[in-house]
Amino acid sequence: ATVIVTIDGVAASGKSSVASGVARALHVPYVSSGLLYRAAARAALNAGLPLTDEAALTAHLRAHPLRLDARADGNRAYQGDTDLTPHLHTDEVDDAVSAVAALPGVRAWIDDHLRSLPAPFVAEGRDMGTNVFPHATAKFYLTASPRVRAQRRVNERDADIDAIETALRERDRRDARQSQPAPDAHLIDTGPLTLQGVIDLILQRVQA
Ligand code: C5P
Repeated sequence: ATVIVTIDGVAASGKSSVASGVARALHVPYVSSGLLYRAAARAALNAGLPLTDEAALTAHLRAHPLRLDARADGNRAYQGDTDLTPHLHTDEVDDAVSAVAALPGVRAWIDDHLRSLPAPFVAEGRDMGTNVFPHATAKFYLTASPRVRAQRRVNERDADIDAIETALRERDRRDARQSQPAPDAHLIDTGPLTLQGVIDLILQRVQA
């Protein structure tokens, strides 16, 4: 059978590190859907489009399509020949992305692109197990308290932990609609676990 493993969860729950580790152990690529949403937000900002103008943004995506390169050593997102990847993990994109991700036309465009990617793979995001790949082989949903997630972010980006925690809580609130666990997902609280601990737990379930 063609294996699709979905790993969803809240912002900064460790999804991409976990998905990449699981994918490497299974010798398959991983797919970062969040990177495509970030690329859509970056594209809107670059084109000077209002973040809530669904018609303008979907027309823009049709004319200048995004493309996800689901590489095992790190995903990259392109618009035409332009590699947007170095400009996607910034505070500006963090602030813009939820508004763009709330537009149904943008979600439909990204869903189609994700479903066109050749399985097997590990897909990571918010709604991989619910909307995009409801028939996935195995589904996981990662959580952690806002404080634990903020602490992890401080280790990645140089910033104030309270400001980060506030921004994460705000993004949770804005993303709540597209970020619910599938009924058949395994919930994992990553708070008390190491990265390798989470990866091992998932591999046990997938290989069981
Ligand atoms: O996973 P990451 O934090 O990089 O995702 C960035 C943003 O993309 C999220 O805050 C959310 O607004 C959006 N997103 C989404 N659905 C997904 C993946 C990401 O709405 N499947």
